[in-house]
Amino acid sequence: MPHVLELTDWTCEAIYQLLDRALAIEAGKDIPNMPIFAANLFFEPSTRTRFSFEVAEKKLGMHVLNFASDVSSTKKGETLYDTLKTLESIGVKMAVIRHPQEGYYHDLKDRLSMSIINGGDGTGHHPTQTLIDLFTIYQEFGRFEGLTVAMIGDIRHSRVARSNIQTLRKMGARVILSGPPEWQEDSLATDYVSIDEAIQTADVVNLLRIQTERHAEAGRWTKEHYHKAYGLTEKRAQLMKPKAIIMHPGPFNRGVEISDALVEAKPSRIFQQVHNGVPIRMAVLEWALTTEKAVMS
Ligand code: CP
Repeated sequence: MPHVLELTDWTCEAIYQLLDRALAIEAGKDIPNMPIFAANLFFEPSTRTRFSFEVAEKKLGMHVLNFASDVSSTKKGETLYDTLKTLESIGVKMAVIRHPQEGYYHDLKDRLSMSIINGGDGTGHHPTQTLIDLFTIYQEFGRFEGLTVAMIGDIRHSRVARSNIQTLRKMGARVILSGPPEWQEDSLATDYVSIDEAIQTADVVNLLRIQTERHAEAGRWTKEHYHKAYGLTEKRAQLMKPKAIIMHPGPFNRGVEISDALVEAKPSRIFQQVHNGVPIRMAVLEWALTTEKAVMS
């Protein structure tokens, strides 16, 4: 069965097909019943990804197994491959995995017949979050060409930034970045601009959480200092274009990346993104179960 690991190899056509299927799912069209066993293995904390996958699986009629890594045999030295092979041997057809190791799936993908859905790998990729973000933009603007998306914050340590930048460019959007110089990522080869220019220019202001758990050192930022320098303050939000929207993949920190007052303000689509997690993940799960040939990574 095909995996969903990165969006690198997905064509624009395949992405549009998936977004259109998520729109149809949202409208309640042709929801299949797929009574397979699906396991969710989260080796890093999660609220949105974990629970929206579980809701999506249950809406598709799947039998859901939630793997508790702290009481599993991984604590006794079992490898991730052997854990998955064990689950596969007892009939699990699909595994949603979040893991701190970037690219954990490279050693697994050709050795398992179950489908692996990447729920986030270290600083690597987060394909379903990117599909959610694209879906949210698509619902709002109906297109990607001609839009400017600003990604602001801790670019270097963000798997969402990496996945979004690559995919949005492929879909025809212009991506600009802003953030502290120590968290810039040269390999993404995208223009860095000042925070005010990013906010003034963007159709989509996409804020990123400071990934303190991935920082080697405490760094120079207090919450207040960061908010003043790179946060979306109420004053800065006045610079936004009239139809521009605010996004954040979550979890967000009120008063750090974004002012408390803006989280649920009119231009914010933050909880719409969370809502979109279910139809997008239903579309992804259905795709993985019904696609015969692995045409994408
Ligand atoms: N956006 C996201 O991945 O959120 P969680 O860490 O809560 O799953």
